[in-house]
Amino acid sequence: MKNFISSGDISDINALVKRALEYKSNPLKDKSLGSGKRIGLLFLNPSMRTRLSTQIAAQNLGMEAIVFNVGQDGWAIEFEDEAIMSGSTAEHVRDAAPILGNYFDVLGIRTFPLLQNKTEDYSELYIQQFIKYAGIPVISLESATLHPLQSLTDVITIRESFTENRKPKVVLTWAPHVKALPQCVANSFSQWINKWGEADFVISHPEDYELDVKFTAGATITHNQSEALHNADFVYIKNWSTYTDYGRIYCNDPAWMMTNEKLDLTQNAKVMHCLPVRRNVEVSDEILDGPNSIVTAQASNRVWAAQAVLSEILKN
Ligand code: CP
Repeated sequence: MKNFISSGDISDINALVKRALEYKSNPLKDKSLGSGKRIGLLFLNPSMRTRLSTQIAAQNLGMEAIVFNVGQDGWAIEFEDEAIMSGSTAEHVRDAAPILGNYFDVLGIRTFPLLQNKTEDYSELYIQQFIKYAGIPVISLESATLHPLQSLTDVITIRESFTENRKPKVVLTWAPHVKALPQCVANSFSQWINKWGEADFVISHPEDYELDVKFTAGATITHNQSEALHNADFVYIKNWSTYTDYGRIYCNDPAWMMTNEKLDLTQNAKVMHCLPVRRNVEVSDEILDGPNSIVTAQASNRVWAAQAVLSEILKN
C-alpha cells in the first residue's frame, strides 16, 4: 500500500481487519515498527476521533505524530496549479507539500468538500495535490468524498460484533440534520461494504438523496425506511446532503430519525454512527443510551484501523 485514500488501495479487506483485531488484542506487538519515523497529521477541518486515534495508533507503533491544524493555525493554501495568487490563499500546495515530504515519512490529511461545485469536490483536488507534491505516502483522514479510516473501522466493528454463520443484513439509513453535510461517510461505507462482499447491504434514504452509483452499485436501494430496516442486523445512521442537485437539503423529515420503535422492525440490530451525532435529530437518546448502540465501541476501533493501515504502509 503506497497511499490510503479509498478501498481501492486495499487488496484484501479481511487481512487488514484481521491485523486491526490483532492490534486490538495486543496494541504494542509492533511497538518498534515505526521507530525513528514521523507522521504529520494536517487538519484543514476539525476532528476529535480521527486526530486522537491516529496519534495513538502511531504511538503504539513507536512512531512520532505531529499535528498541524492548518485551518486554525495556518493560512489558506492554494491548490489550483498555475493559480495567480492575488486572493486570500497565501501558500501554494506545490511549495508546502515537498517541505512536509522532507519533515515526515507519512502524511495524513483531512479536508472537507465546500459543497458548492460537485465536479471540484469529486475531483479530490486537495488530497491529490498532496499526493502529487509531497513525495511520501498519504493517508486520508477524510477527504471531500470519502472517509476510508472510518469505513475500515466500520467493517472491523461489524466483523467483531457478528458471530452467526451467515451474512449480516447491514442497513445504511439517511437521517435528518441541521446542516448540509458531505456524502463522504455514506459514499465510503457503501464502497467498503460492497467491496467486502460479506453482508446483505441495503441503503435507505428519502427521494432526491441518491448517492453516486459508483459507490452504491451492488446495494439494494429503497426510499422506504421501514422496509429497509426489516430484519436488519446492523443499522448505520448518517445524514448526507443531496448529490444530484449538489449539496442541498431537500426533505429533512424528522420521521427519518432512528428511534426504539424502528428498532422493533430489526433483528435486535446493533446501531452504528460515525459520530459526532446530533442527538434527537439523527438518533434518539433512547437508542444512543440503550443496549443496541455500539457507537462507542465503533469509535474506539478507530485506533486499530489506523494502526493496521499505518503498519501496512511502514512494512512497505
Ligand atoms: N468520525 C470522525 O471522523 O470523527 P471526527 O470528525 O471527530 O474525527
